[in-house]
Amino acid sequence: MAFDEKIFQSVITEFEATTEMLREVAANFRQDLKLGLANPDNSSLRMLKSYVGLPSGKETGEYLALDFGGTNVRVSRIKLNGNGDFEILKRVGEPLIVEGEYDYIGKNSTAEQMFDFLAKLIDESIDGDHETKFYLGHTFSFPSTQDDLNNARLIIWTKEFATPGVEGEVVNDLLTAALKRRGINNVEPVAVINDTVAVLLSAAYKNSETYIGSIYATGHNTCYLEPSIHDPKCFGQGGMILNLESGGFMKLTPNRFDMEFDRKSEKPGEQRNEKMVSGRYMGELLSMAVAELLDEKGKEYGFTSIDMSMMILDETPQLEKATEIIANRTGKTLEVGDVEKIKQLTSAIVIRSARLVTCSFVGIIWQRAGEGAIEKQHIAIDGSVYEKMPLVKENIAKALSELLGEDAAKVDTVLDNGGSGLGAAIAAAMAV
Ligand code: BGC
Repeated sequence: MAFDEKIFQSVITEFEATTEMLREVAANFRQDLKLGLANPDNSSLRMLKSYVGLPSGKETGEYLALDFGGTNVRVSRIKLNGNGDFEILKRVGEPLIVEGEYDYIGKNSTAEQMFDFLAKLIDESIDGDHETKFYLGHTFSFPSTQDDLNNARLIIWTKEFATPGVEGEVVNDLLTAALKRRGINNVEPVAVINDTVAVLLSAAYKNSETYIGSIYATGHNTCYLEPSIHDPKCFGQGGMILNLESGGFMKLTPNRFDMEFDRKSEKPGEQRNEKMVSGRYMGELLSMAVAELLDEKGKEYGFTSIDMSMMILDETPQLEKATEIIANRTGKTLEVGDVEKIKQLTSAIVIRSARLVTCSFVGIIWQRAGEGAIEKQHIAIDGSVYEKMPLVKENIAKALSELLGEDAAKVDTVLDNGGSGLGAAIAAAMAV
């Protein structure tokens, strides 16, 4: 049975993002930035202060970097040599959830278990040395309010994390208590930053002319350097970096799949932009769309972003790999014409994602330029979707040129791999 062409068209057009739509989303993003700078309550962007500006590039010394923001937690010991140079002396990492063994992110876990797990990893990273003094930078990649560089209070879990007892708490207090429980009194947390801020610090340490940092992975978010904010408690130069929590941006038009997924998600109504673009959710959207094509609405197939990437990369005439992935997920072996249609749908979801992400960048570029000329600049991005998902990089470039015209030549995106760890070490160096 081949898919009904009319139904297929009605599904795939839901994921279209025309230049006109992008222009509107980017303009709305800029408008929300303006409103948010005056008063964050009037914007769907949280505009969270980081109390850090850009590094000088001269930061040196050895620091611990805790990178906590996805299912994998990493702790590194990093030596900064200045001039953008650094060495990773040690790195340990483990997942917060191993199915059938343990789960520190689900509803039935506790804050103590979660932070004890972090303390255990920190202990490994210092080889059990409870004497030498270590300063720790903490990349904590969830929306948090700060009133200085070392205190971050979690507003709300995202990325389907659900551990009770952490929302509303100061995360480094929970961490310090866990370190104490483990007998570690020589590790002092001195800075907490969002992963977007970490990526920006890391990229700017190596390369000036970088003012925007973004994560495009399981979750999605962007930060930028706001030149007009000066605060005596802020470290670094050029103003203050604001974590926009752009995954929570609301002024875009969700399609019927976005709305339906939002309703059944862990936090309905929250993170609407993130649910349309990030790696955690693209597979869910594809599952819902495929269920409609297969006339099995409501069925969950569990497509992942890795499945999506492999299907897009399948260029064989018979689409064997894509056929196999679809069969594994849906239990149905489809004829090649239908597999081709699912492949097109997969590409459409990815392309929409890349185009919407670009709107945030352009909104920021416009806002920073004000009435003046757009500066020559790099946008630093880290994350598996940016790094590995086919179609993403070229569609960001294409959308940049649709929106910026000739000025697009002044802007490029660069991968800042591992910036979450390095940025935490840089923030610690800036703080001490
Ligand atoms: C979080 C952000 C984070 C992003 C990328 C989002 O879910 O709210 O704080 O920067 O994921 O990790």
